[in-house]
Amino acid sequence: MNDSKAFRQCLGKFATGVTVVTCTDATGNPCGITANSFSSVSLQPPLVLWNIAKVSHSLEAYLNAAHFAINVLSAAQQPLSAQFARSDHTLFTGIEYALSSDGAPIFAGSLAVLECRTHQIHDCGDHYVIIGEVTAFHSSDGNPLLFYGGKYRSIEK
Ligand SMILES: Cc1cc2nc3c(=O)[nH]c(=O)nc-3n(C[C@H](O)[C@H](O)[C@H](O)COP(=O)(O)O)c2cc1C
Repeated sequence: MNDSKAFRQCLGKFATGVTVVTCTDATGNPCGITANSFSSVSLQPPLVLWNIAKVSHSLEAYLNAAHFAINVLSAAQQPLSAQFARSDHTLFTGIEYALSSDGAPIFAGSLAVLECRTHQIHDCGDHYVIIGEVTAFHSSDGNPLLFYGGKYRSIEK
């Protein structure tokens, strides 16, 4: 199976939400990456996962981070998704955020936030699977940002 474009198109038939996964790197700089590979894994203990591409400029930060946060985006936060899908080391310029008690950036207006302790990291093909143990979480009502067929969608459309 070497038709990667068709494979991506096929995977794009699975509608997902959109998250920005954040951490602080070894020098104290905030990091954020848009990710729709988020998934729940276990309720007891509470575990979640996401995948990061090995080519990501932020890879070392996430592989070394003891903690990270998953910000589940609302439809109104689509600009945040676009911002953190860019390869740019000044991604946080002009963006308001708070820090979790473990130092991961949190965005006001997120539909849900899951603060995680890095639990396991698995080397899988061209990605690493990062599994986190959830140490704190909160959620609110609102319209989710969705991603389907390579495009942003929302429930109202
Ligand atoms: C909707 C959407 C979902 C994405 N999901 C992931 C993902 O799960 N894992 C990942 O590594 N990259 C994902 N990306 C791509 C990264 O956001 C993007 O490649 C990255 O921010 C580029 O910067 P970097 O190379 O410095 O990491 C996604 C992009 C978009 C727009």
